[in-house]
Amino acid sequence: MTFTSKIFALFAFFALLASPRAQAQSADFHVIPLPKDVKSTQAGSFQLDRTTLICYPAGDKQLKRTAEWLAEYISEITGLKLTVVNQTMQRHCIRLSSAMRHENPEAYNIRVNSEIILIDGASAAGTFYGVQTFRKALPVGAAQSVRIPGTEVKDWPRFSYRGAHLDVARHFMTADSVKRFIDILALHNINRFHWHLTDDQGWRIEIKKYPLLTKIGAWRDQTVIGHNSGKYDGTRHGGFYSQKEIKDIVKYAAERHITIIPEIDMPGHMQAALAGYPELGCTGGPYKVWQMWGVTDSVLCAGNEKTYEFIDNVLDEVVKLFPSEYIHVGGDECPKTEWAKCARCQAFIKANHLEADGKHTAEERLQSYLIRHAEAHLNKLGRQMIGWDETLEGGLAPNATVMSWRGEKGGIEAAQQGHDVIMTPTNYCYFDYCQATDYTKEPCGASSYLPIERVYSYDVMPEDLTAEQQKHIIGVQANCWTEYMRNFREVEYMIMPRYAALSEIQWSNPEQKNWDDFAVRLGRYTDLYRKYNYNFARTIYGVKIDLSSDAKKRAVIATLSTIDDAPLHYSLDGSDPAKSPLIYSSPIELRTDCELRAAAVRKSGEVTTSSATVSFNKATACPVTLLQKPNTAYTYGGGPMLTDGIRATDTNFSSGKWMGFSQNDLEAIIDLGEATSVSRVSVNTCVGKGAWVFDARGFEVEGSLDGQNFSPIASESYPEMKESDPDKIYTHTLSFDATSVRYLKVKVISERCMPKWHGSAGKAGFVFVDEIAVF
Ligand code: ACM
Ligand code: ZN
Repeated sequence: MTFTSKIFALFAFFALLASPRAQAQSADFHVIPLPKDVKSTQAGSFQLDRTTLICYPAGDKQLKRTAEWLAEYISEITGLKLTVVNQTMQRHCIRLSSAMRHENPEAYNIRVNSEIILIDGASAAGTFYGVQTFRKALPVGAAQSVRIPGTEVKDWPRFSYRGAHLDVARHFMTADSVKRFIDILALHNINRFHWHLTDDQGWRIEIKKYPLLTKIGAWRDQTVIGHNSGKYDGTRHGGFYSQKEIKDIVKYAAERHITIIPEIDMPGHMQAALAGYPELGCTGGPYKVWQMWGVTDSVLCAGNEKTYEFIDNVLDEVVKLFPSEYIHVGGDECPKTEWAKCARCQAFIKANHLEADGKHTAEERLQSYLIRHAEAHLNKLGRQMIGWDETLEGGLAPNATVMSWRGEKGGIEAAQQGHDVIMTPTNYCYFDYCQATDYTKEPCGASSYLPIERVYSYDVMPEDLTAEQQKHIIGVQANCWTEYMRNFREVEYMIMPRYAALSEIQWSNPEQKNWDDFAVRLGRYTDLYRKYNYNFARTIYGVKIDLSSDAKKRAVIATLSTIDDAPLHYSLDGSDPAKSPLIYSSPIELRTDCELRAAAVRKSGEVTTSSATVSFNKATACPVTLLQKPNTAYTYGGGPMLTDGIRATDTNFSSGKWMGFSQNDLEAIIDLGEATSVSRVSVNTCVGKGAWVFDARGFEVEGSLDGQNFSPIASESYPEMKESDPDKIYTHTLSFDATSVRYLKVKVISERCMPKWHGSAGKAGFVFVDEIAVF
């Protein structure tokens, strides 16, 4: 988009907010995902009204279906009811065809002039995407007619694999919800639905040969509350899809040009299956469908011939239901604890010469053996295998495609080995991560933070690959794990609007990337979300308060912003900011304790607010020098964030408000500017033990007048944490006789060796700290 068209789009956005009816008459093809090329022409405008016909070539069943959808979309969005006709017309119609010549079968063109709208695809799929773009270009709201300006759109996708994953094992989603999910994928031009059908907490696909997989494995008696809190809800949960329902869903998706890739996760994530067939586990059970989250040691016994029979038989039924070329066999997170102890597994390792080879352990090679077996079976059935990046360990199966989730490293390695790769790294593509920094304010979410801006920033193509290797990166996918999403409304909240950003990195060219422009288009796009009653996260409309400290001015500087540059009011006394006469125009300098409240007051009447409590103490806005390096992923604003006047109040250690150290300690020097009388120092830590985040083991303060020679002032050490100690914010305070210092050295010691009761006992933990306060 050029600068001028961007300004125009911004203007259009505000005009839309100001007067939705007036602007809602004209279409705009700058949609999401942004087409490759949108040109205004001098060919005049087309007036779309209820007399406009939609036509398609007689006898073309796929285009007939697309034409009917187009009529449905236009009716839903504008209220205009158009007639579909099966003939080729020359005037006053929207004409669908799939005669375009283009090397990319998903390409399409749209041409609008005063007489006709032509939507032409390189295949029926291309026409379908043309129709999606047309649908999104329409202004939302009842209209007698809509002006479609003379335009030429040329478009095709960047990636052939544009994926979205849904986990229905942790929480079952009804067949109707799955269809609604597919509708959402279609809206976002997503063409692969990775359906995670089996896991420890539930088996969701009917397999005729193994009826207990669903009779027993589809149900759990209760579910742990929250993040493995130790408390359970006492409510039976479950469900599964019959083979008939699956066929119906596969057809529903195919009509929308979406291929469903089923995942049968093996050899780990199999506890629900083992509940029905305990003889397939190393210990023989008994096993229960798992009631908590995480990774269980109960996996398929890879030394048992019956396991291989089971895999073959299940895959035989799976391929009959899913025409997809690719079938996903998981391969992730399979602990080898039981295999190491199991006589059968160990005998199998010997018999098949799978001993450790210096690169891989015997058990890793055993896993590789099992995955290779699954791949060979799928290849025999004419299908290809996808596995998570753990399938690289122990040697990759010969024809496998790799889904890189633990960062991009696995994907890079697989592409270098000549394998196809789908990128889905956690830090850009895990949509179970929160969209708000304070995850307690969200209905659900794993305790990590992944805002839409970060999704949008993902480049997908690793730079370390050669041009030839880059061809193996066939696409990108977002994953939606549902541990904390109890129903489909919560799934909607987690995937939207992040799917908007995802669709753009999947479809549009990286050269077109421009966050400000995307943000404007997103404003219009969410009108469609509202139209379809999608429960999308409103987090994006919030007021962002960025605080930094200015050591020279000894002030905290507050910068306010919104995604759409909405007019902002603020107050400093806790009063309602929407009614405050203070209007934000430039960063605010704060020098005393205050409750800063800010409100975006949009002309549409929508108001969003944010607040921050700024507390001053003798260290606030003073320079901080870090003597030890924080963990790279958790450095955020560095030293100054420890004295910025803001105490992190959320228990989300990855919110950006906490600084994290592992194997190192927080060791920092604060320059108070002049000799200052000091009698108390405090610091907060954030604890989430399951994620290796522990409280401090010690807290020390030293003082100095010259910044060179420090003398100890006070210190405390703390015992190792017990399993029963709560995950929360801990405050540590050292009080002492008043002493005069200019420089303070503060040390907060991290847990170097996690306790025996912890799943990762012996490894170093993290300490997360914020706001050093000096009194
Ligand atoms: C995964 O997130 N375990 C693939
Ligand atoms: Zn075994």
